[in-house]
Amino acid sequence: MHVLLTAGPTYEPIDPVRFLGNRSTGKMGYALAEAFVAQGANVTLISGPSQLPDPASARIRTVRVETAAEMFAEAAKVAEAADVWVFAAAVADYRPVQVVTDKIKKSGETLTLELVKNVDIAATLGQCKRAEQFAVGFALETTNELAHAQDKLHRKNFDLIVLNSLRDVGAGFGHDTNKVTVLDAAGQIVNFELQSKADVARGLVSLILARRAPTA
Ligand code: CTP
Ligand code: CA
Repeated sequence: MHVLLTAGPTYEPIDPVRFLGNRSTGKMGYALAEAFVAQGANVTLISGPSQLPDPASARIRTVRVETAAEMFAEAAKVAEAADVWVFAAAVADYRPVQVVTDKIKKSGETLTLELVKNVDIAATLGQCKRAEQFAVGFALETTNELAHAQDKLHRKNFDLIVLNSLRDVGAGFGHDTNKVTVLDAAGQIVNFELQSKADVARGLVSLILARRAPTA
């Protein structure tokens, strides 16, 4: 089984020294890569900038990228051959319209950056998903969590979506623990206890393996 896994944030350059980014650390994605390998899979881990070292396992090929465009280009190379797609990356929704070559100098009291929408990696690949392929997305919502997650699952052609909780102490960005709820296309919901990201990863991988169409 070959797994395509996106992880970490993306950094969108503004000028030679600045970027737009987010607080994703990559912990959840890297833990998923290890958990898939523990079940005998080979993983292509496409990672945005993360402090975490490349996983040591020979079964994980780590591809480092910076921007959403680079992440998309690398994901597109392996998507067709992968049996399972997991989109754990926190992809920047927008990037600066232009990347200026010289450092922006401080001048007026306000500064306006014009942004343009990035490619939606999951949604774009989702349009070419074959029946035997299995796609898993992540979502972090602060209002109408279940409804928004359900909507994303359908829009992006996911088989499962993992909803991250920000409400629970010790869950989410930078923490070692996470509390997630998994939704499927039939509206079935699986609640996970607050636990370490390694344990959440193991639980998600067993759920994914149990749910995906048996082809291998
Ligand atoms: N995703 C992606 N490419 C993007 C944006 C999101 O592949 N450009 C993936 C994420 O990795 C995640 C899922 O889509 O698995 C949902 O991401 P999210 O940011 O919650 O969805 P958006 O469609 O960007 O909606 P919004 O940020 O407005 O809630
Ligand atoms: Ca987004």
